[in-house]
Amino acid sequence: MTRTTTVPTGSLDGDVMNGLLPPELRTAVPGPRSEALVDVLARRECPAITSRRARRAAALGAAQDDPIVWREAVGSNVWDADGNRFVDLTSGFGVALVGHRDPAVVAAARVQSERLIHAMGDAFPDETRIALLDRLVGIAPPGITHAILGLSGADAVDGAVKTAVLATGRPGVLSFGGGYHGLSLGTVPLQGYKAAFSDPFRAITNPHVRHLPYAAPLDAVREALAHGDIGLVLVEPIQGRGGIRVPPEGWLQGVSDAAHAAGALVAHDEIQCGLGRTGEVWAGAPAPDLLCVGKALAGGYPLSATLGTEAAMAAWGASQGEALHTQTFLGHPVGCAAALAVLDQMGDLPTRCAERGGRLRGSLEARGFRVQGRGLMLGVALDDTLRASRALLERGYIVLPAGMGAEVLALTPPVVLSDAQIDGFVDALVAVA
Ligand SMILES: Cc1ncc(COP(=O)(O)O)c(C=O)c1O
Repeated sequence: MTRTTTVPTGSLDGDVMNGLLPPELRTAVPGPRSEALVDVLARRECPAITSRRARRAAALGAAQDDPIVWREAVGSNVWDADGNRFVDLTSGFGVALVGHRDPAVVAAARVQSERLIHAMGDAFPDETRIALLDRLVGIAPPGITHAILGLSGADAVDGAVKTAVLATGRPGVLSFGGGYHGLSLGTVPLQGYKAAFSDPFRAITNPHVRHLPYAAPLDAVREALAHGDIGLVLVEPIQGRGGIRVPPEGWLQGVSDAAHAAGALVAHDEIQCGLGRTGEVWAGAPAPDLLCVGKALAGGYPLSATLGTEAAMAAWGASQGEALHTQTFLGHPVGCAAALAVLDQMGDLPTRCAERGGRLRGSLEARGFRVQGRGLMLGVALDDTLRASRALLERGYIVLPAGMGAEVLALTPPVVLSDAQIDGFVDALVAVA
C-alpha cells in the first residue's frame, strides 16, 4: 500500500515509507532541540508530567534525564525534533499496534475529517459510531451484546465500575497488586501499581476497594468477596504496567467462578492486552461480564469502550431523555472511523502478533534473556531496567521499564516490526544489559 509521508530524513524508499528502518542518530540523545523544547515544557506543563524524569535520573545518578521530543512516526520508526530516527518497541504505550500512522487508519480519518468531525453524542449519533458498535460487539467474547464508548482507558474502566454498581447495588471493587487501570478519580483508587498515585486523593475517591496480590490464591479471592460489598472484580488478564505478568493457567476461571458465586461481576481490563496483541483477539478467558478496551482500538486516536453482557448493561435502564452516562465527544466520528480501519485488520492481526512475538522472543532467548508474556506483549527480566532503557534510547531504541520495581523491560512493539529491527534491537540489548 502506498503511504503519503513527510518523513524528514532519508529518501522516500519503501523502508522509509513503511517505518522499517534501523535507528539513525545525528545528535546526542536528547539533542539540542529536544532539550530546548523540554525547557519550555518544564516551565509550562504541570511538573508531575513528562518534563523531567526524576526517577530514572536519580537511579542513573544524573542531574536530569530529559525525554526526546517526538515529531513524526511511521510504522515502527519515530523521529525526534532533532531529526534522529528511533525504533519504537512500545508502539507509544501500546497504541500503534498496527503501526504508527497506519495507511488505512490515516485514510479513514482523512475521509471522515472531510465529512463529519464531530456529532452530538447521545443526542444525535452519527453513522460511524453505529457501525463501530456493531463491529466491536461482533468481535467480542460470547455473551457481550452492548457497549459504551469512551475516549480513554480510564473512561472504559469508569464505565465498568458504574455498570457494576448499577447491576449489583454494591460499591466495592476487588482489584490486584500491580494492576493499572488509569488515573481518573474513578480509577485511581483501583490501581495497585503505586500507592503514591492514589494516596493524595483518598479522601475524594472510592473507599470500598480491596486489593489482593495478582494471581492470589483463590481462597484469598473468595475470602475478599465474602463480605458482600464487592460488586466488581477488575483484572488485567495479562498485567501490563505491573510487569507483563501472565497468571497461572486456570486462575482467571477461578476468579470468575468466585466472583459469580459471590454475586459480583467480572471485568477484564484488556486495554493493553486486547485486540490481538497477545496472539488472540482477547487475552482472557472465560468471557467476562464487562470488557474494557482502549489503546490500539483506533490506531492512535483517543477512543475506548466498555463492553458488557445484556444482563449487565440492562442495569442502566432505558434512557429517560437525558443520558445517565455520556460526554461531549462520545463516539467521536474520526476516532470511530479510525477504529473501523483497525478492526478491518483484526482477521489476521492476532496471528501476525503471534508470529512477530515469536520471532522477537526467540531472538531474545537465543541470546540468554529471560522473557515473559505472550505474543507482542513481552517482558525481559533485567537487573537494571532504568539504566538499560536509557542506554537503549541512546542507541536509538525506545523501550519502557515495567513492574512495581521496574524489574522488566516491557516490549509492546507494533506488529510491523521487521526482522532487521528485531535483530538490531537484540544486539543493542546485549550491548547494554
Ligand atoms: C491495562 C490498562 N488499563 C487502563 C489504562 C489506562 O488507560 P488511559 O491511560 O488511556 O486512561 C492503561 C494505560 O496504560 C492500561 O495499561
